[in-house]
Parts: sequence; structure tokens; C-alpha cells
Amino acid sequence: MDGHTGRGEASERLYSRKDFLRLASAAGVGVAFVPILATACVPPGGKLDQRALAKVGPKGQQDWKVSEGVRSCDVKPPEVAFEDATFGFAQSENNNPWRIAQTASMRSAAEANGVTLIVTDAQSSTPKQVSDIQDMVAQGVDLLFVPPREEEGIAPALESAREANVPVFFVDREANAKICKQYITFMGSDFVRQGERAAEWLAKATNGKAKIVELQGTLGASVTADRGKGFRQGLKGRPGMEVIVSQTGNFTRADGQTVTEQIIGAYPDLTAVYAQNDEMAIGAIQALTDNGFTPGKDVTVVSVDGERDALQAIIKGELGATVETNPRFGPLAFDTAKKFLSGQPVPERIFVQDHLFDKSNAKKYVGSAY
Ligand code: AHR
Repeated sequence: MDGHTGRGEASERLYSRKDFLRLASAAGVGVAFVPILATACVPPGGKLDQRALAKVGPKGQQDWKVSEGVRSCDVKPPEVAFEDATFGFAQSENNNPWRIAQTASMRSAAEANGVTLIVTDAQSSTPKQVSDIQDMVAQGVDLLFVPPREEEGIAPALESAREANVPVFFVDREANAKICKQYITFMGSDFVRQGERAAEWLAKATNGKAKIVELQGTLGASVTADRGKGFRQGLKGRPGMEVIVSQTGNFTRADGQTVTEQIIGAYPDLTAVYAQNDEMAIGAIQALTDNGFTPGKDVTVVSVDGERDALQAIIKGELGATVETNPRFGPLAFDTAKKFLSGQPVPERIFVQDHLFDKSNAKKYVGSAY
């Protein structure tokens, strides 16, 4: 099996992750994404691929695109028919609406396909996620879906899967791992672009002048690094937009609230909050309100995800905007697995397409949010 390297070893790749992200960002400003054609060329969920963007996402399912030129791993799939296969989903945690919606989507897609899915919950622990994966490999799963909690630390589990010839699909998050050897494909949002979009929205909403508090997600997670990087890229050339403090709120509402309380004490002159997910934004809004601020008036809050509470907060005027991260991975994950197990090529990277919710559309989509 001819492997090439993944996120952590980009220099050895024939093309880099940066190239993918550049293509994806370009697509956001109008350069067309095209389904890959010919050899590595059947986009999973081909039917859905025809769907107009305006009709998807907030209605429920994800939409996705594959950048031109994306390769496929030349890897022999395990000898099991899709219908007979047992799948594993090693969830990182189920402590927020986003994760709960993702798990539910995986379960319902397994049911719709009539296949067996084993689901584990690592309860926010990378070592537990490793042992969950190793347990599922020992139980004889045929294919694993993994959202790596952190970029580092998952290697022993990936090695166990590789030794047992169990293919791994990274869902939503990435890890430092060898593509084609330790995993077959990554499917998820372009997190760098999400950060850029949040920055662009905030700059516009604050007329280019803000003292910004950044609430980061889980430290060590690819999504945290990427959303931070994208946000800074989006602020480039806007000298009035200043990140005054950046601290983790661990992607949770409770930590978002506690950390914001502490930050307010040290930086009472803050005028904006960039929360890397909605849960932390809602915690921050609570802390701001408790401390005499009026979120949406004297402090502008922007976040990422698109959960129901966030859309309600937009409607109330407390949250300015949220960049969508659609958690409904089930159809894409199982469509891709079906193709792989039947010997068809699957792209190494599949980008989920994100929307942006603000006061112009929150009412329209709140009913179908999770
Ligand atoms: O990896 C995606 C992130 O993980 C979501 O934005 C967050 O809410 C979740 O926990």
C-alpha cells in the first residue's frame, strides 16, 4: 500500500493541505469547485451533489464538494459487502448539541442503510478515544469513522486499525496521520475559511474597530488551530481590529461563561467576542449580561456552528452571526463508505459547504436547527 503523509507531514506530500485549503477558500469567493472526474472521480452522494446550495444545510443534510485534482488512496478495501459490514463511530464527546446532532445523524444513516453501527463516547478524553477505537477493532468492526479529538495522541489507535486492516475515515476533525496508510479520507468543513468569515463579518459589523476576546475550543484540536488561524487571516489589513485576549473555553457553555467572567475583570474595555463555537458564545452572552453589558449593543458577538440556541440568540439580537458547521455527517459518511467498500475511489478530502446565519435569515432556519 503506497501511503503518503497527512496533516502533520505536509512537506512529504505531492500536494499539501495548504493547497486544498487555498482551493477551498477560493471557492468561497467564486472559483468553482468541481466534482472530481475520471479515475478518482465519483463524488460520494452524487445525487445530492446536484442540489442547489440554497436548499440544503439548514434544512438538515449537509452539502459537500470535492476540489479539482483531489486524489484517492490506492488501497484495497476489506472483503466485506457494505450491507454486511459492521461500522464503528468513535465519538469524542456528547456534551453539546453539535456532537449530539452528529451522533444522531450517524445513527440514523446507519439505520436508513440497514447496517450495524457501534458508537462509543470518549467523554472528552483522547486516551479514551484511543482505547474505544482499539476495542472496536478487537470486536471486529470493518470500517471506522473517527472525529479525532486532538491532532496528536491518536496514533496508537490508528496503528491498531491499520494492523487489523480496518480503514479509518476522519469525520469532521483531522489528526497528524499518514493518508492512505492510517486513514483513507477526511470529510469536514474548511475551518480556516470559517474563521476568516467570522472575522470578515465582525469587521463589517464593528466598522473595522473592535477590542476582541477570542474564546478558543479544545486546545490541540485541528478545528481550534484552524479557526484561530482563519480569524487572524481575516483580520489582516484591518488595524482597528485587535484581539486583546485569547483563552480556551473548551467548546462548552459552562467554560465559555466562566472564562468570559474572568476576562471581563481583566479587560473591561472589550467590545467584541469571537467564540469558536455557539455553546461558548451563549456562555459568554450570559457572563456579559450578568456583568452589566448588553450583548448585541455594546459588545458584538460572533461564533461558529449554527445550533438552535444560537439562532434564537440572533433573533433576540444578542448574537450577531454564526458561521455554519453542519454536524449531519451520516449520509456523507455512509455514502462514502459504500463507495469505498464496493471498490470505487473516494476522494482524500471532501469539504462540507457552510452557510452563515445572521439576522437576515435566522428566523427562516431556526425551526430546522438542532
Ligand atoms: O469539530 C467541530 C466542533 O466540535 C464544533 O464546532 C463544536 O461545537 C464541536 O464540539
